[in-house]
Amino acid sequence: MSKISADLSGRFAIGGDLSVRRLGYGAMQLTGEGRWGEPPDPAEAIRTLKRLPEIDVDFIDTADSYGPEVSERLIREALHPYKNIVIATKAGLVRPGPSTWVPVGRPEYLRQQVKLSLRRLGVERIDLWQLHRIDPKVPQAEQFGVVRDMQKEGLIRHVGLSQVSVAEIKAAQAVFKVATVQNLYNLVDRSSEDVLDYCEAQGIGFIPWFPLASGSLAKSSALERISKQSGASPSQIALAWLLKRSPVMLPIPGTSKVKHLDENVAAAGVSLSDKDFAELDALGRKAANENV
Ligand SMILES: NC(=O)c1ccc[n+]([C@@H]2O[C@H](COP(=O)([O-])OP(=O)(O)OC[C@H]3O[C@@H](n4cnc5c(N)ncnc54)[C@H](OP(=O)(O)O)[C@@H]3O)[C@@H](O)[C@H]2O)c1
Repeated sequence: MSKISADLSGRFAIGGDLSVRRLGYGAMQLTGEGRWGEPPDPAEAIRTLKRLPEIDVDFIDTADSYGPEVSERLIREALHPYKNIVIATKAGLVRPGPSTWVPVGRPEYLRQQVKLSLRRLGVERIDLWQLHRIDPKVPQAEQFGVVRDMQKEGLIRHVGLSQVSVAEIKAAQAVFKVATVQNLYNLVDRSSEDVLDYCEAQGIGFIPWFPLASGSLAKSSALERISKQSGASPSQIALAWLLKRSPVMLPIPGTSKVKHLDENVAAAGVSLSDKDFAELDALGRKAANENV
């Protein structure tokens, strides 16, 4: 088997000057059930993180709320001091308990969480910090204002948003440069298609979360045929499709296991023909419409 390398996914420059390989890694799965507490197999979680540089993954997505704190702490334990690895974190969601996520966008809270992420990750500046959610209970100007201030103060290098509309991106762009947007997006969930198109036009990195979903296509004959022809698994095809969909696409498949990580990153070497891409695109849109 040829060497597994995220390098085959190509590169994207976040904010125009922070180059990463497009196929990254999402570190949310390195936590307990309901994304709460320690992972069931902490040693495997550390092995998974240590495997990342060996297969050229240099873009890791995490958040203060994963665990909470657990994911950021494990990243530091496994990889600090970071050599040519970009760590993107987020804040803006609190965790009253397992499987619950509540937006809190008070400026003093966001500032506290940025400082705690700096401490936990062991860095002086966060390369990419994302507002996990815009809090509907707090004026947008207050949330965006503190983010702009923290960037000016050098606590944050680049700023991203998460689960936003085009109108919200435009409102934020009036206050700071939006480097990335992280929204739910995959072959069969196309609700953020307009956001992706806007990001591509603006040179904003688009980070699709839950990227591996191909579930409702699993039994389709097209996916089966493409899978057989390319020797790739359905989840690898889902990732290859994302990478081909847009040059600003930065998928961050999440896993707690080395075996799955290797399988996911090997998708960087899977190329889809234009015909197969278009067929999957049409099937995905159809499945998405049926699921609405
Ligand atoms: N911005 C947001 O609001 C938001 C929300 C959710 C997630 N995220 C980010 O997006 C990342 C990815 O999303 P996600 O983790 O929800 O979804 P995902 O990457 O689409 O899927 C993860 C799930 O698939 C399993 N898996 C991974 N690789 C596999 C493989 N090769 N074969 C079989 N199963 C496999 C994982 O279990 P195993 O551990 O057993 O492999 C896990 O249950 C997260 O890690 C997080 O960083 C962001």
